[in-house]
Amino acid sequence: MQTADGSFDLKRLIRPNILGLTPYRSARDDFKSGLLLDANENSFGSALGDHELNRYPDPRQEKLRSLVATFRNVQPDQVFLGVGSDEPIDLLIRIFCRPGSDRIIITPPTYGMYKVSANINDVGVDEAPLNPDFSIDADNIRSRSGDLQKILFLCSPNNPTANNLDRSRITEIITSFKGIVVVDEAYIDFSSAESMLTELNRFPNLVVLQTMSKSFGLAAIRLGMAFASSGIIDIMNRVKAPYNVNNLTAAAAIEAIKDVGVMKRHIRDIHNERIRLAGELVLITGVQKIFPSDANFLLVRINNAQDVYRRLAGMGIIVRYRGDQIHCDNCLRITVGTPDENSRLISALKEVLE
Ligand SMILES: Cc1ncc(COP(=O)(O)O)c(C=O)c1O
Repeated sequence: MQTADGSFDLKRLIRPNILGLTPYRSARDDFKSGLLLDANENSFGSALGDHELNRYPDPRQEKLRSLVATFRNVQPDQVFLGVGSDEPIDLLIRIFCRPGSDRIIITPPTYGMYKVSANINDVGVDEAPLNPDFSIDADNIRSRSGDLQKILFLCSPNNPTANNLDRSRITEIITSFKGIVVVDEAYIDFSSAESMLTELNRFPNLVVLQTMSKSFGLAAIRLGMAFASSGIIDIMNRVKAPYNVNNLTAAAAIEAIKDVGVMKRHIRDIHNERIRLAGELVLITGVQKIFPSDANFLLVRINNAQDVYRRLAGMGIIVRYRGDQIHCDNCLRITVGTPDENSRLISALKEVLE
């Protein structure tokens, strides 16, 4: 949505009921310290004995937000924190898409939650598939873009194809797309490409998603982030459940971000294992192709992939069958494991295929 002078008009893009929303004000929005008898908490303490846990968390997540902002080199008011990346995906759809009329665009093969979230919210989905080499089909996206298409979801590195999308093509699309462009960077820390976060101040319609689930190895704490203009982040914070990020999650995330040494070591180890795994897989009879990867998994084309998938599962080795997705016929998606796990996978595959 552009104004007459061609500039981006966020307010016109937001659903009117959301724009006019008076957000819930929680007790902790007003006072955080003192004699706290305002929130019907348990004044005698938590059942676990840790006094802090009887209090509701900070709804504005100030401490963690400023730490994440410093870590990713953005401003705190450009950071939204949510329950995994799945929460900001759902929130963005709810904020920008009117159920029953507005639509999103996705670029299959890609992460499945964009479509699921749209379906849950009764928002239509238009597909502009990637090219067979998994690059963006910009013409197709352009031809599907209209006034109803409020959000375009791109994923880079993309799941399940593992490749980076071309940066200059992404920026071209952000420039021409009238709605919000979400670039999901769940796997960015494994990638050789630079994050789109550096473009945040240039594009008012850009939202970048990241997560603690992958490079930080903290899938269990459920912490995802959205980075965008302060205007978009402000609306997301108004719509989110007041206490969406709990204290245990915040404490774990703060600890992990304060010392990123382990995370960096894991990234290096995963890189090394990805190279070894790809090198060994390609030698196995029946493995047709290992697609280049900038993530912590490999997309592998293999003879009779569905049968291989079932037989591996029968041996207790679980990978993901992706052969039902466009351009991914006979493909398995294999997460890079530890050296021992990868060796077990390789022997099992040899047993099944050779
Ligand atoms: C591209 C992509 N985005 C988001 C997610 C989900 O991340 P989270 O655990 O933060 O919800 C995944 C998980 O596999 C993913 O592949």
